[in-house]
Amino acid sequence: MKIIVVKNYEEMSNRAAEIFAETINAKPDAVLGLATGETPLGMYNNLAKKYEYGEIDFSRIRTVNLDEYYPIDPENNQSYRYFMNRNFFSKLNINLKNTFVPDGSTKKPDAFCLEYESIIDSFGGIDIQILGIGRNGHIGFNEPSAEGLHALTHVTELTPSTIEANSRFFASPDLMPKHAITMGIKSVFKAKKIIILASGVTKADAIREMLRGKISAMCPASVLSLHQDVTLICDKDAYSKI
Ligand code: F6R
Repeated sequence: MKIIVVKNYEEMSNRAAEIFAETINAKPDAVLGLATGETPLGMYNNLAKKYEYGEIDFSRIRTVNLDEYYPIDPENNQSYRYFMNRNFFSKLNINLKNTFVPDGSTKKPDAFCLEYESIIDSFGGIDIQILGIGRNGHIGFNEPSAEGLHALTHVTELTPSTIEANSRFFASPDLMPKHAITMGIKSVFKAKKIIILASGVTKADAIREMLRGKISAMCPASVLSLHQDVTLICDKDAYSKI
């Protein structure tokens, strides 16, 4: 794994946006694997600026998102579909039909998961995947030890730690869905290149576990060291326990 330690969130976001822009310029119909959460927002803003300045073109780009709460209406302002439209897609010349986020309103979640995986395969896989890391080492919504390391896209139960971390965004914790549809570790591993971002002291334990702990389903991010092309871009605070 390549590790880049930077000063702060802003620098992390700049570096990540540079790498994404290079991929987009080298392959105008690239498939981008995207994440939600606070971590990639700075990168998304940087990429939107590059688009505004005419440095990159999203007209042929395709995107697939890692995960979505389940069940949730895509129109709900806490859904990941809503998040992506508002924070990224609406700022670009991307065709929304080329953007894929798991459907939180599907009535047939298991069939949907199979279909999602085959959509990714039909694109020839993901060219570059962005990941954040949960405080408990989760990637996507692959929670510690929940489903092993061989899962493809699946429905998963969220852990109390994730529910606690994310319920602040809902009007009341009871309104937060307790399940999610997520790409599995095996789906993530099919990406040709992976960039994982971490910023802030709240991520320091997860980064230590990922880099210094055993490779184990107890820290899903730890398996990334087995992928052939992973870059961690991490600020000093997130790296402070190494
Ligand atoms: C979101 C996702 C999650 C987040 C992680 C970190 O699509 O897959 O794994 O990346 O929970 O969230 P933030 O960035 O909010 O700290």
